[in-house]
Amino acid sequence: MVSRESAKRQIIGGVNMSAPSFESFVAQYLRLAVCGTYWGDEGKGKIVDICSEYFDIVVRFSGGENAGHSVNDESKNFAFHLLPSGFARGKTCVLAGGVLLKLQALVAEIAENTPKLSCTAPDVLIDERCPIWTPYHALFEAYIERLRGKDAIGTTGRAMGPLQGFHSMREGVIAAHLRDRRQLMRVVTQLHAILKPCFDKMVDEVPTPASVVDELVALAQSSGILKSIIDTGAYLFDEITKGSKRVLFEGSQATGLDVNAGTWPFTTSTSSTAGGIAAGTLLPPGALSGTLLVMKLFPTRVGGGSMPSELSSREAIQRFADANPELFENGSARAEFLEDRLRHCNTDDATSAELGEYIMVKAREIGVSTGRGRSPGRPDLAWARYAIRVNDPIGCVLNGLDVVSGLEIIEVVTGYRYRGVELAPGIVPVLDLANVEPVIEQWPGWKEDITGAASMNQLPQNARRFIERFEEGLGRSIILIGTGTKRRDVIFREPKARLNAIF
Ligand code: IMP
Repeated sequence: MVSRESAKRQIIGGVNMSAPSFESFVAQYLRLAVCGTYWGDEGKGKIVDICSEYFDIVVRFSGGENAGHSVNDESKNFAFHLLPSGFARGKTCVLAGGVLLKLQALVAEIAENTPKLSCTAPDVLIDERCPIWTPYHALFEAYIERLRGKDAIGTTGRAMGPLQGFHSMREGVIAAHLRDRRQLMRVVTQLHAILKPCFDKMVDEVPTPASVVDELVALAQSSGILKSIIDTGAYLFDEITKGSKRVLFEGSQATGLDVNAGTWPFTTSTSSTAGGIAAGTLLPPGALSGTLLVMKLFPTRVGGGSMPSELSSREAIQRFADANPELFENGSARAEFLEDRLRHCNTDDATSAELGEYIMVKAREIGVSTGRGRSPGRPDLAWARYAIRVNDPIGCVLNGLDVVSGLEIIEVVTGYRYRGVELAPGIVPVLDLANVEPVIEQWPGWKEDITGAASMNQLPQNARRFIERFEEGLGRSIILIGTGTKRRDVIFREPKARLNAIF
């Protein structure tokens, strides 16, 4: 373990400020995006939190309550779903038009997180174009997931698919309707009429359109949210062009879950990549100055859909998590398990499923939104190269380096073989990911616990070598390395000019 005191000496404002500085790196990008690489839960919340210190406005542009972003600011733990993570630092928060909005959830989230703030509660601005959740969307999602049977997407149950789907079909409520009860009643009644044949087949109680409208109107008024519903595209445009404000875009989910780029149909229903920012905010595409692509060393997946580097299986990992809740709480059971299992994982007898369980416990891979166990995969350069092609980041963020401390060998996926042929870097098949065979290399690990390391020279030589090799495999600079869950557990590295963004 790196001494907290020596780490602290080098840290100002949450990040390692020993030269070279993260602050001067970030200062070059007036409008920066943070997007995910794999299948979500890569630690974007923490990175947005660190970056948001240097920005005025933090914007969510897609997804909805399905997201789960944790921010740990030493004394308080914030768990955000709809609120941008910049809320924790009191930054102006914008839910742009691409966000699928459950009003009830947003109101509850603001109420839950405001008392934890050590600053004045920030403004939360909502776009008038945001599609608005109704119980009809949720009933319909449960209905189609049941119909899908073994092909169920395994959604978070937050009705993202129906919300986005009906919106694309030009049906449903948008935030602007909340200003006009008559219009609201019309669109809610129409949605109810469209779904009535499905509702007739359900045992669940279906609320009347009038009760849905009453609840929305009462909530919008009593919470004061009605006043915050504006044209956020115009607001952002003005703040950028006239007010010289710096804007941070917070991606939700990740490239593997993006409705276009991801492992369709096992994706979410909105765009999670940098490409989704223009459509989700109505800022012109050229407004973005750069993207940070966040990955964690051991990617994880929940719900349905393939992950070529998976160590165990979704079902087995969930059974393990359900059977051993004590391993996720601090205490002797956890400590003993981690010690024994690490020793075992360093023998030839260990199975990949056992390593998967170890990583899941060590990194506490349990969903913030759903409480589901996340199934870990091996470090995967092949998928990361695809995500780099799609997002063209100015740099990558590698989280979870601390998780692998103690493993003598780390198996890394360096490519994908499909139908007997190794795929070119940056290429993945759209439908048949289950039949992709990972190309695996064994790389040396390190013994030392690196939790809390805040500079490269606090890392053992093998960890430094591992990062250099991983970076070469990515073909893009790793500029931040996460070494723990706290704000300050991060190392900044200067980007290498030869590994620059292309566009
Ligand atoms: P939906 O977004 O709830 O429709 O779920 C579609 C798929 O995306 C499911 O496999 C979910 O588990 C997954 N998913 C959605 N949001 C997240 C997230 O924030 N982290 C990880 N997986 C997610």
